[in-house]
Amino acid sequence: MDYEHRIRCKELLKKVVTAEEAAKLIKDGDTIGCSGFTPSGYPKAVPLALAERVKAGEKIKVQILTGASVGPELDGLAAVGAVSRRSPYQTNNDMRNALNTKGEAGVLYNDQHLSNAPQDTRYGFMGDVDIALVEVCAITEEGNLIPTTSVGSAPTFVKMAKKVIVELNTSQPEEMEGMHDIYIPLDPPNRREIPIYHTGDRIGTTYIECGADRIDAIVVTDITDKVRPLPPITETEQAMANNIVKFFDGEVKAGRLPKNLLPLQSGVGGVANAVMAGFVDSDLEGLTFYSEVIQDGALDLIDCGKFVAVSGTSLTPSEDGLKRFKANVEKYKKTIVLRPQEISNNPEVARRIGVISMNTAIEVDIYGHVNSTHIMGTRMMNGIGGSGDFTRAAYISIFMTASTAKGGAISSIVPMCSHIDHTEHDVNVIVTEQGYADLRNLAPRERALVIINNCAHPDYKPMLLDYYNRALEACPDGKAHTPHILEEALSWHVRFNKTGTMKLEK
Ligand code: COA
Repeated sequence: MDYEHRIRCKELLKKVVTAEEAAKLIKDGDTIGCSGFTPSGYPKAVPLALAERVKAGEKIKVQILTGASVGPELDGLAAVGAVSRRSPYQTNNDMRNALNTKGEAGVLYNDQHLSNAPQDTRYGFMGDVDIALVEVCAITEEGNLIPTTSVGSAPTFVKMAKKVIVELNTSQPEEMEGMHDIYIPLDPPNRREIPIYHTGDRIGTTYIECGADRIDAIVVTDITDKVRPLPPITETEQAMANNIVKFFDGEVKAGRLPKNLLPLQSGVGGVANAVMAGFVDSDLEGLTFYSEVIQDGALDLIDCGKFVAVSGTSLTPSEDGLKRFKANVEKYKKTIVLRPQEISNNPEVARRIGVISMNTAIEVDIYGHVNSTHIMGTRMMNGIGGSGDFTRAAYISIFMTASTAKGGAISSIVPMCSHIDHTEHDVNVIVTEQGYADLRNLAPRERALVIINNCAHPDYKPMLLDYYNRALEACPDGKAHTPHILEEALSWHVRFNKTGTMKLEK
């Protein structure tokens, strides 16, 4: 591998070691703060070497902190029993299985708002950071670090860690230098405003401050990010995207949104992809994107000139999108800024610039509460991610979900959510393939009818109306602000667990 020129501080060439040698710096009980956000820009070679040590019989269990989800090389450590604790977000099957497992075999998971994760580390809430393990595409003359396809929490981990291990990844384009904007806010009581007033504003450095003397080991690798393929857009996703575009049209006509909308934030996945594709064919111009993850849809909108500024903390296109990005880094650098997650997801900035948030729910209830994380109220799916960072601070917050799951056996609109991540106070609009429910300025009893009538699947609409009407009657003294039949409110979930469907027996 041709890598020497990427280590511009020549003194540091002495610190190049194998992944096995670097992994020896990690001890049982350590906390490791890793780069990586969505399966992008995370360390790969050292975690694989650590897994080999554990497989060979060494007892090592570590706490792993990251930006967000990472690839199998790192979260796969859960499968060999090398992880004790994990924060703040994951999407990996081995890790998901481990954090839903009790006892020694399990992992203790702290599901955090992503914008909080770096500051919680600086405040000492996560314990000491023993090792920062960070992927870079180059090291500067001063020993500062140029990140790769994500920034995440890496700047804070490097700042706080006792030891720094760098993975220099030659599969990542060096031309990415200049795309990052690294800024760590001061902590209270000294914090000032974060001076971002427009999506594309730059306020920091193009590198993570480190210094040659703080680097303990450098591992050179060319293992690529395990980005996820983007499946074709389904009819349901397309219908949800159309409903969102219809909602925006109405807002522009009513004068509540400017013609180029306001900075958009969008979660990852099929619906987000479909919404982006819908914008390509729309009349909208001059759009901006203040979000977390940049996927193929955002690249398409840059290519057709509709996205004029794009801010995120990671770049996670499909394999094809990644090829397109790598072939045109210089072009995309003019529009894309990659920031630490506490800035990309910062509620202060999101509220100032008026972000329109669009995230996916697992289920929503008839009063507008949203469950983003727990299957049937108990099993962790992924985590809250950045959805809470943006939702509460948003100009308009939108949640989308297909009206049913598991082939229709589950209604995603339920009497009462089995777990709540976003409360009725934060949720403005709910979108399913059936339609959208605009909840702004509605009382709970109004919300219930709008959600049921506009968003529920026809198979479940009569059941939901029946529940709501009986709940209205059942309240003690006939009085209720948010009517419920408490014995029945979670019975749909109980029925699914017992019978495999939320539907009533005929
Ligand atoms: N009840 C039970 N299971 C449900 C369900 C419901 N109401 N709705 C969906 N599911 C299941 C699906 O069947 C699927 O299960 P499978 O993995 O066994 O096939 C799984 O949940 C994922 O659903 P899917 O329809 O594939 O949606 P997705 O990939 O778009 O993920 C979330 C949806 C909510 C899990 C995902 O968006 C997430 O993790 N959100 C939280 C973080 C976030 O919002 N990040 C963005 C912030 S910038």
